[in-house]
Amino acid sequence: MRRKLAAGNWKMNGLRAALSELQALARAHPDPSVDILVCPPATLIVQAAALVADSPIQIGGQDCHPQDFGAHTGDISAPMIQDSGATSVILGHSERRENHNESSALIREKARTAHATGLISVICLGESLAQREAANTLDIIAGQLSTSVPDTATGLNTVVAYEPIWAIGTGLTPSTDQIGEVHDFIRTRLEKRFGSGVGLSIRLLYGGSVKPDNAADIFAVSNVDGALVGGASLKESDFSPIIKALE
Ligand code: G3P
Repeated sequence: MRRKLAAGNWKMNGLRAALSELQALARAHPDPSVDILVCPPATLIVQAAALVADSPIQIGGQDCHPQDFGAHTGDISAPMIQDSGATSVILGHSERRENHNESSALIREKARTAHATGLISVICLGESLAQREAANTLDIIAGQLSTSVPDTATGLNTVVAYEPIWAIGTGLTPSTDQIGEVHDFIRTRLEKRFGSGVGLSIRLLYGGSVKPDNAADIFAVSNVDGALVGGASLKESDFSPIIKALE
C-alpha cells in the first residue's frame, strides 16, 4: 500500500553542469514503478524542476525556514521552494541539526509550514555512534520522532528517514537487523500516535551509505519503504541501480 520512494540528497554539491546527471536519470527512468525524488541545492531547483517537468521525477529542497517570508537573510521559505517547482523538502537532516543547532522543536515548526504550503516533508532522525554504543538508539529515535513530526502529518505529506549519523558518508551501515529494529519501532510509534490509517501510510526511508551493492539487502528489511541517498545519488550510474533494486 505504501509506494516505494528513492530519494537523492545532493547536499552542498552540484553546479549547473551536474544537471546532466538529472537529465540522464530522467532518461533512464521514463516510467518507474517507484517514486523518485532528487533534492539538489537550492540554486538548481528551478532548472532541475524544468528539466524533469515531463518526467515522473520530483524535485525537493533540503531545508526551509519555519516562516513564509520576512527579514531572514540567507534563508529560504517553503513557499519559495514550492514556487521554484519543488514538491518536497528534507527537514532535520543531522547535518543541519549539528551544524546549525536545529532542535526537534524547530524541525516540527518547519514541517508544519511545509505542510501548510503543500510540500511533502522528509523528516530525518538518527542516533550518533556514542548514543548507539550506549544502547540509547531507541530512546533517541523516540524523542526525535515525537517532537520533530507535527500533528499535521499524514501519509501524503510526510516521509520519515532513519539516518544513523555514524553511517552517513562513512561507508558503514547498520546490520539489516539493526535497521529493521529501528524501522519497526518507528512504525509502531507512528501507529500508536496517529492510528493505523496514518501510521501505516507514512513512508519510512533508510539513509546512510546506501550504495548499488547494498541496496537490495536494505530494501528487503521490513518497514523500509525506500532510501534517502547522499553520495550515490550524485551520479546517474550509481543512483539508477539503487532505484532498480527498489522496483
Ligand atoms: O541524506 C542522505 C545522507 O545523509 C546519506 O548520505 O552519502 O551516506 O549516502 P550518504
